Amino acid sequence: MTPLDPLGADIQAFRNAMLEFYGEFGRDLPWRRSGDPYRVLVSEMMLQQTRVDTVIPYFERWMERFPNAESLAEAGTEEVLRIWQGLGYYSRARNLHRAVREVQARYGGRIPEDPDELRTLSGVGPYTAGAVSSIAFGIPAPAVDGNVRRVLARLMDDPAPSPSRLRRWAATLVDPNRPGEFNQALMELGSTICTPRAPGCDTCPVAEYCLARNRGTQQARPEARSRSRVRRATEAVVALLDGVVAGDGDGAGDGDGAEDGAGERERVLMRRRPDDGLLGGLWELPGVTVEEAESPQAAAVRLSGELGGTADGSVEGGPTLLRALEPFDHAFSHLRVRYHPFVFRVERAAPAEAVHPEFRGVGETLRWVAPTELERLPLPAAQARILSFLGLRDGSTAS
Ligand code: ADE
Repeated sequence: MTPLDPLGADIQAFRNAMLEFYGEFGRDLPWRRSGDPYRVLVSEMMLQQTRVDTVIPYFERWMERFPNAESLAEAGTEEVLRIWQGLGYYSRARNLHRAVREVQARYGGRIPEDPDELRTLSGVGPYTAGAVSSIAFGIPAPAVDGNVRRVLARLMDDPAPSPSRLRRWAATLVDPNRPGEFNQALMELGSTICTPRAPGCDTCPVAEYCLARNRGTQQARPEARSRSRVRRATEAVVALLDGVVAGDGDGAGDGDGAEDGAGERERVLMRRRPDDGLLGGLWELPGVTVEEAESPQAAAVRLSGELGGTADGSVEGGPTLLRALEPFDHAFSHLRVRYHPFVFRVERAAPAEAVHPEFRGVGETLRWVAPTELERLPLPAAQARILSFLGLRDGSTAS
């Protein structure tokens, strides 16, 4: 059976039904209002792992700050991560930043049209290349994301279509004259009607072409992919406050600040995560993994001693535990972390680069930060949450 069998000969009638559906029900989304390839690229990077409704305000804010590829290419990493803050999966922000710099360096600032060239840019895979090429440049390239995969698997009644098979189908079906609208019609159908659990076949514009519906198998298509197990971890987080009055410099607090939180005058020790890996380049309160045989508090006391001691290991005037905050969970894609935050105060802050041998000589890895400066650091959502519990940061932007 050829891939086209289920649709019979009349592919154009199928395309027309999809285009008509899109004309009637396609949403008015901010990146659809102009064919600017930069806007399309940004939206597709944001939409890679995030829903349309969530993306919209982030997209608008991004465009205010970085209205074109040049402004983004010239920005620093820290600001790029801060504007992305809250969307998660931060490697997308770093890749987008790299991609526009590659466009400046290799293509004289013009985003390429060809999907194969687009794929050479950082963070641009087959889906994003096909989406940008078709939506921004009218090239009939296939674009198969999770929603499109489900629609195609049902149309063809294939329980587990391979990526290459899906791309072949999508490449055959895409409308040669209106590929961007056609591809977005497939995405839209998948997110509004051809949904995972209760597909609305009664209102589907292409139900008559759907083999799964014909056979009554639509609920079971595609088969659920076996999920990789989510790892779990427990982390003790240390909010180490110093007693320094900003600009005062005598290094000693007088003890009348909030006992269990931070007064205006205290700085907190923050750590920058390495560029590579989960949440790379973002700032956080220092934390350690709690080992199985250890209590979270013991782990926090150990870490605070390392952080609040001096380079030679002496902890004279070392950290005092002020209080433990309620633990809470945060889910990453394959990892669920339970955070146990503890607040400590140290009377005399060691210089950040001297606090622990592991961190010596690593430049900005650790830094004492005043509450006003915290607003300018890019922070993962879980960290923003802890800092707002502590009154160190406005909670309104923590997500
Ligand atoms: N998901 C990914 N890209 C999209 C787009 N352009 N429109 C709607 N949903 C999408």
